[in-house]
Amino acid sequence: MQKVRVGIVGMGIGRTNAKAIARNPRGQVIALCDLFEDRMAELAKELPEPVKFFTSYEKMCADPKVDAIFIGTPNQYHVPVALEAVRQGKHVLVTKPLSDSVQAARQLVEAAEAAGVVNMMSLSTRFMPEVQYLGQRQRQGDFGEVYYARARSVRRVGIPAWSLGFIQKGGGAFRDMGVHVLDSVWWLLGMPQPVSVSGVAGAKFGPRGQGFWGKPTLPLAELAQQYAADDYAGGFIRFANGGGLQVESFWASHQPEELQIELFGTEAGACLKPLTLYQTVNGAQQDVTVNIPNNSKDAPWDNVAAHFIECILDNVPCAAPLRHGLIVQEMMEALLTSAETGHEVVL
Ligand SMILES: NC(=O)c1ccc[n+]([C@@H]2O[C@H](COP(=O)([O-])OP(=O)(O)OC[C@H]3O[C@@H](n4cnc5c(N)ncnc54)[C@H](O)[C@@H]3O)[C@@H](O)[C@H]2O)c1
Repeated sequence: MQKVRVGIVGMGIGRTNAKAIARNPRGQVIALCDLFEDRMAELAKELPEPVKFFTSYEKMCADPKVDAIFIGTPNQYHVPVALEAVRQGKHVLVTKPLSDSVQAARQLVEAAEAAGVVNMMSLSTRFMPEVQYLGQRQRQGDFGEVYYARARSVRRVGIPAWSLGFIQKGGGAFRDMGVHVLDSVWWLLGMPQPVSVSGVAGAKFGPRGQGFWGKPTLPLAELAQQYAADDYAGGFIRFANGGGLQVESFWASHQPEELQIELFGTEAGACLKPLTLYQTVNGAQQDVTVNIPNNSKDAPWDNVAAHFIECILDNVPCAAPLRHGLIVQEMMEALLTSAETGHEVVL
């Protein structure tokens, strides 16, 4: 059986992606790359076959045995690593967000498309079975015209403390978490063209050394000093088809934890958690709870890996190309720019 031989860069979220690729009968992880060898050794123990270690992504990208590369470094390094991979003719699977700026994201998308390689975003929320189910129902026309949506991702104490990349320039709550619900809801809306964005964003917890989650890389007072990103953002996006979207993300807040998407359609509405459809049948309101069969926490990752592999081996058109990541990046950066300038941004 033909297999896609994959190299993994970045041993954080790279671990989850690598294990999903290795679980797929047509996927094989053959190489790992990180700045720290002990992190590679830890993952290697969990993989079914021996792997080669690299501390230079350039060297991994030059290895002719590697067909495809997963990029899971901090946001600021997605584009340099992925650019090197596509230059070497490798297929690429990039974690979210695509980049830390629109300019870098666009450069990568153009290079990947010109190279003709499979280029895909690894999107664990869009590939959740619940989101995929809502997408199917939307594309079947069951909601009618979906003219408005709300999406939010709220943590109470959830500023990642384990990597400086999250809190430095190019990181932040909106690029880290907002991106998941923004990508998913934009996809559920049928990927309409954004025309303008207005938003607010700021940091109310991080700079005070509060709201951090996980093992800190530095004492909290030093993390607070280095804090250069948003820890909350919220805004409104207007689309060319007249639709509207309210989107919010909070790394830390005095509110309950929540990941929610709500769709407002002319024939039916829906919410993600708990997965529910709202409709009116024979004049009576109906709320339908939907139970996804065989769902598991691995399902989104297995779906991402399976789709990446079928795009490469079976020439299936990619349903989550980097170009989608670029449009999501444009909306994110516009919201953050609007927050900074105090004005609506026209795209
Ligand atoms: N659900 C998801 O899809 C999801 C979840 C978590 C993180 N992420 C994304 O993954 C990225 C990393 O986040 P994380 O939590 O895994 O961080 P992390 O710090 O745990 O892991 C990043 C790893 O990249 C390595 N690294 C950094 N620069 C490198 C380089 N030049 N070459 C090779 N390795 C390098 C680091 O040593 C580290 O081990 C972020 O962009 C984040 O948005 C996605």
